[in-house]
Amino acid sequence: VPSATDRFLEGMVRYYADRAPLYDRSMGYDRPEAIAAHARIVEFLIAQLRGKDVLEVAAGPGFWTSLLAPHCRTIVATDVNAATQAEARKKLGAAGNVTLQLADAYDLTNVRPTNTGAFAVDWWSHVPKSKLPVFLDALHGRVAAGARVVMVDQLDTRDHPDLSVRRDHEGNKIEVRRLPGDRSYEIIKNYPTEVELVASVGERGQDPSYLHDLPASRWAFAYTVRRAPL
Ligand SMILES: C[S@@+](CC[C@H](N)C(=O)[O-])C[C@H]1O[C@@H](n2cnc3c(N)ncnc32)[C@H](O)[C@@H]1O
Repeated sequence: VPSATDRFLEGMVRYYADRAPLYDRSMGYDRPEAIAAHARIVEFLIAQLRGKDVLEVAAGPGFWTSLLAPHCRTIVATDVNAATQAEARKKLGAAGNVTLQLADAYDLTNVRPTNTGAFAVDWWSHVPKSKLPVFLDALHGRVAAGARVVMVDQLDTRDHPDLSVRRDHEGNKIEVRRLPGDRSYEIIKNYPTEVELVASVGERGQDPSYLHDLPASRWAFAYTVRRAPL
């Protein structure tokens, strides 16, 4: 019998598969002013990952991949959904240093282990609290010691508490999302603080760096992977 958490994970995969052709437009990624609003976040990502061999998790339709590709040595852009990867292929087909690969963020064993950097945008918020260690261990198993990791996600900028928000038994926020055709999905969407991010990475990371970017309504969090001596 699947647990409640498993059901949210499945709903999340289906929601983004169904949203794939609409995704970039719904995020404003086809408008220059929306792209300009993310300038500081993009600058932060580039500064952390410049020249590296990078693993991208939950790359989706590849908007961020395409912004980072000119600045990284190589990128392996992974996602669990073939539908989102098909969208990414349309924009990244010509980028010679990008490889698209299907991979589950909770089990990245099929991905090359030699990455010197990693990132994910709008992924952390969807990871159930109980699965954060599984994700981080999977990710850190695919990077070299000393690799730099960057997570970027959204700030909760509502100026009053949303009383309609539900929480599950782990304390994850549950949001109802709708798509055309009267389709609805329940997904997890968390808004961690800097303190919570540092605590989740814990002993796995060092040298944290945090950016709180109100104009873009986003946070970015970077750290270096610490490897215990064998
Ligand atoms: C909010 S979208 C972000 C996409 C992309 N990073 C961007 O910002 O444009 C979340 C992505 O997570 C992917 N996803 C969902 N569950 C996943 C899993 N278990 N492993 C890897 N990717 C997953 C979805 O297919 C979707 O592309």
